[in-house]
Amino acid sequence: MKFAPQIDAQFVTVVVAVLGALAEEVEGITDARLVQGTNVNLGEALQFLREFDIEASRICFRVSSARWTYSTNMTDFNKRRMIEEQTLQAKFDKLSWKRAVSFDWTRLPDPMVRRQLKQLITNSRASLTDEKYNEIYHLISEMKDIYSHIRICPFNSAERLYCDLELEPDVTRIMSNSRNHLELAHIWREWHDKVGPPMKNKFMRYVQIANQAARMNGFLDAGEEMRYVYDDPEFEIEISESWKRLQPLYKELFTYVRRKLLQAYGPNIVRQEGPLPAHLLGNLWAQDWSKIIDLVAPYPEYRSVDITDEMLRQGFTPLRMFQMAEEFYTSLGLKPMPPEFWRFSMTDKPNDRKVQCTASAWDFCNKIDYRIKQCTEVNMEDLISTHHEMAHIQYYLYYSEQPYLFRDGANPGFHEGVANAISLSVFNPVHLHRVGLFNENTDTYETNINFLMLMALRKVAFAPFALLVDAWRYEIFQNGVQNMNSAWWELRLRYQGIIPPIPRTESHFDAAAKRHIPADIPYMKYYIALLLEFQIHNSMCFAAGHVGTLHTCDIYRSREAGRVLSDLFKVGKARHWKEVLKMLTRGQSERISADAMLQYFQPLLLWLKVQNKNESVVGWMTNLEEEALFQPFLFGGGVNHATDFSFVLFMLITVKLM
Ligand SMILES: *[C@@H]1O[C@H](CO)[C@@H](O)[C@H](O)[C@H]1NC(C)=O
Ligand SMILES: *[C@@H]1O[C@H](CO)[C@@H](O)[C@H](O)[C@H]1NC(C)=O
Ligand SMILES: *[C@@H]1O[C@H](CO)[C@@H](O)[C@H](O)[C@H]1NC(C)=O
Ligand SMILES: [Zn+2]
Repeated sequence: MKFAPQIDAQFVTVVVAVLGALAEEVEGITDARLVQGTNVNLGEALQFLREFDIEASRICFRVSSARWTYSTNMTDFNKRRMIEEQTLQAKFDKLSWKRAVSFDWTRLPDPMVRRQLKQLITNSRASLTDEKYNEIYHLISEMKDIYSHIRICPFNSAERLYCDLELEPDVTRIMSNSRNHLELAHIWREWHDKVGPPMKNKFMRYVQIANQAARMNGFLDAGEEMRYVYDDPEFEIEISESWKRLQPLYKELFTYVRRKLLQAYGPNIVRQEGPLPAHLLGNLWAQDWSKIIDLVAPYPEYRSVDITDEMLRQGFTPLRMFQMAEEFYTSLGLKPMPPEFWRFSMTDKPNDRKVQCTASAWDFCNKIDYRIKQCTEVNMEDLISTHHEMAHIQYYLYYSEQPYLFRDGANPGFHEGVANAISLSVFNPVHLHRVGLFNENTDTYETNINFLMLMALRKVAFAPFALLVDAWRYEIFQNGVQNMNSAWWELRLRYQGIIPPIPRTESHFDAAAKRHIPADIPYMKYYIALLLEFQIHNSMCFAAGHVGTLHTCDIYRSREAGRVLSDLFKVGKARHWKEVLKMLTRGQSERISADAMLQYFQPLLLWLKVQNKNESVVGWMTNLEEEALFQPFLFGGGVNHATDFSFVLFMLITVKLM
């Protein structure tokens, strides 16, 4: 995870007061990425950007500091201070936007100036009136609040007096570990029924205002505005083409997993040729299937890679894990962590106060302070995570000389893509062997297939989900909120082959079960990051002179691979991400592509094809009963009659390709 200064919505009440005076109405201006003035004086633009840079960095430092203080010491006092700083930042953002739109950026002669102004102007809700600006932030804040306060009832009826299960860790743990399908269905239903309905109306209003803001900025709807950060007219085409390439691999994986689930749960729960019910895949959203590796491991008699015991035996500490991660980067010729990093990072969970434990990497925007916050435990997962977070810090360090607006990944997928690409080298039997943590013979066919299966359950299984969350949001912004629940399930079925375990209607709001929806956080970046992860891994491995299958590549100690990274890091966001991709691929391509990912999983694909040879359907065929689970209106009778169809039609609806 990368920490990004984000406006917390509670500031709003204060903002109303603060902003009252300064807002002239801009409502009414219709075109544009053009909400723009007439000033074409380059000197004034440069002057504005210079001032902006200093002030934005200063404010970012203050907000980051206040957020850090709160995240590492969660008191009411610290929370209030953080909100105060965020309020000032919101005020500053709106002011800066107003100054930026006084320029006609399209006619300024300096490309870097144009690029910065454009970035300031577009993708902002600052064009809204204060009233609506505040309303939408209130709505988001309330939805986030509802989400974070959901508590659900346990399965065991003797314990239902205590309906106090939280998403983390309880719900996640049960979805991962339980193999009782009744319990899984219960938890699934509890979560979805409790999250969605209370925020449905708020979400509908949010859609309305977000669309208004987008239209004022010259977009057709808020979905178009969300896509605009990629600044690429071919964006949707590239996305759908990459998915077409991935889909055969996904379907093979899906089919194999379905057979294993059928063996585990029986034909009343899993239909041989059908889609999969959402509650059996080890994850509340069926987005990561790695927790059911016990049910699907290709060669269960071969041990999987787990070095936690070895780390404990060797007396690892959190500090040593951080030092090891640092040594990984210096071995590539990248930078050591600065002294402030070692002084101020939170590497252990303190026991004298409440902290937010989610691992994150921080840039304090002053070119000095960079920190990681992680409640590190001595285990394999946290060792990988330490390397991952430190990749974000490397990125920060290398683009620190860029102007404030360019201190970011080349597009929203780059930060995660890079950090995960590093993880591909680190969570890798070859690497763990090289650093003395794994001493078994890793190079048998069976262990390789086991390893690739685990990776596929994480990465390949995630691809359709990563894609559909925003595909749904785009659709809602474009077509409106009627039937938004069946639209959600229609996409989940089309991309993932997933159906709800119990009937759903429009009184439910199942997309809200994923936090990014109520919290207004874009999701497509995770799909981009997933493809980039393998593209970047591939490029680094090529530079490192790696021969052999891609999943065995470890870039450790390769200065050449380090060079690929530092070149990419330094650019930050100063150039279009397509240019960065072109540089990364040595001029070969500037497209987001699934090729590297397919290459990585090629040995597994061959194995899966053999396993699925006898299957009548690779992928899924959906019958009417399954469709009726979420589209009762199609069948006139309502969900309660869905079972009437059981023996009637067995209509095969081929899954639409996209
Ligand atoms: C945590 O924050 C409180 C202020 O709310 C402060 O008094 C206390 O010293 C802080 N604790 C630590 C360990 O920094
Ligand atoms: C249900 O909870 C009760 C009380 O904690 C416990 O005694 C019982 O064994 C549990 N039953 C099951 C099936 O887990
Ligand atoms: C496919 O079916 C044949 C004949 O029943 C059987 O011998 C073979 O083992 C099956 N293959 C797989 C991968 O299950
Ligand atoms: Zn990250």
